[in-house]
Amino acid sequence: MTALAVVGAQWGDEGKGKVVDLLADRADLVVRFQGGNNAGHTLVVAGRRTVFHLIPSGILRPEVLCVMGQGMVIDPRVLVEELDRLDASGPLDNARLAISDSAHVILPHHLILDRLREESRSGSVPVGSTLRGIGPAYEDKVGRRGVRVGDIFRPEQFARILSATLNHWRPLLEGRGAEVPDVSSVVEETGRLAARFEPCVTDTAGLIHERLEQGARVLLEGAQGALLDVDHGTYPFVTSSNTVSGAACAGAGLGPRHVGGVLAVVKAYTTRVGEGPFPTELPDAVGERLRDAGREFGSTTGRPRRCGWFDAVAARRMTSVNGATSMAVTKLDVLTGIDPIRVCVGYEIGGGPARGFPMRDMDRVTPVYREFAGWNEPLGDIRRERDLPPAARAYVDVLSELAGCPVSLLSVGPGREQTIQVADPFGG
Ligand code: GDP
Ligand code: IMO
Ligand code: MG
Repeated sequence: MTALAVVGAQWGDEGKGKVVDLLADRADLVVRFQGGNNAGHTLVVAGRRTVFHLIPSGILRPEVLCVMGQGMVIDPRVLVEELDRLDASGPLDNARLAISDSAHVILPHHLILDRLREESRSGSVPVGSTLRGIGPAYEDKVGRRGVRVGDIFRPEQFARILSATLNHWRPLLEGRGAEVPDVSSVVEETGRLAARFEPCVTDTAGLIHERLEQGARVLLEGAQGALLDVDHGTYPFVTSSNTVSGAACAGAGLGPRHVGGVLAVVKAYTTRVGEGPFPTELPDAVGERLRDAGREFGSTTGRPRRCGWFDAVAARRMTSVNGATSMAVTKLDVLTGIDPIRVCVGYEIGGGPARGFPMRDMDRVTPVYREFAGWNEPLGDIRRERDLPPAARAYVDVLSELAGCPVSLLSVGPGREQTIQVADPFGG
């Protein structure tokens, strides 16, 4: 296999960062292919917790080349902060990071627009965006008026594109009483920031292919989750990119034949941060218990995550649209002491079973649950599947069967080592 895509199959925060860091010891490249610093990927290595928003989760593995592909949107301020943070524990070799010259840049007007949008939806519910400028940056990209990383190093071209872009947004910004950023200040400040990472900027698609030809193994690191995908998620309560495995090809510059496997990451229950439908949400004491035990607070915004039961109907759909070859089930340890455990096995609408997958009706489906026995043993020190309490093993089997996908990894704690390998996610 040449490339394995690791993607979230719920509403994000499934534990992709942990899984990518773990598998990176068997990879040569780790590539982010979409999203930006709306992502927060947490790694816990030797007890030390690090959150990455932009830099791929392979960076703590010294042998791995980390790539930020052209499908990403990059805020230079955040990237520099992240690089500075990494440098604090020893200078990062520029050869370890490659940043696409074609990735789009998040600029000050994107942050302003994100905020205005969320405020202006009076009467309707806001999306609950992370307010990192992601949506507006992708809008500028598909509107063919975006600034790309390579443009930063050609100040006249940068100024020309940005002037046109700001002219596009000016009526909206001025109409809302917002300040229109000054072109020359933005060009100057962005240029100063980008000087810090200029040595890493390159044609990443070309680089990936060069390395593939040399036999490199590639991990493709998804951000968000399939239920937040702009096409396959709970639209309009989604992010502004395709988050499914198919997006890895476009966002990194690969063809489908390069992707040999897809690892769908799911929590053993469900969380969601931000607005939008969530059929199995538990706005009660059990939900609070999951939030406390799972420390379910956003890695990016610190917002409390909404918690609920595992939704096997959604999981089955999301493993399908991702073409998942196996699943990583995370946070199994969090369910210790909860008995019984419920799993959503169907949806009803208007008193009858929902037909097909009712994505457009997710706000009005009623989940149909099956109950399973819980367990009381803590799982954090277990490293072999056969050492799990029988009820925990049975629960994992049920998730796999209902989601229609074999399990390759089980995670029983945030630490890199707190993992049970059931099968090789790379296959073979
Ligand atoms: P990502 O966005 O998919 O990378 O996930 P986040 O990092 O946003 O959220 C996952 C959270 O759960 C982080 O705080 C991880 O450290 C933590 N985590 C990951 N796997 C496990 C696990 O198996 N058990 C527990 N208790 N925590 C986990
Ligand atoms: P990771 O990679 C969880 C959610 C936001 C909001 C919606 C749109 O850590 O799993 P945006 O800022 O993209 O316009 O927000 O998507 N969201 C995430 N939720 N994990 C993420 O990333 C998310 N990235 C965006 O909360 O509901
Ligand atoms: Mg996260």
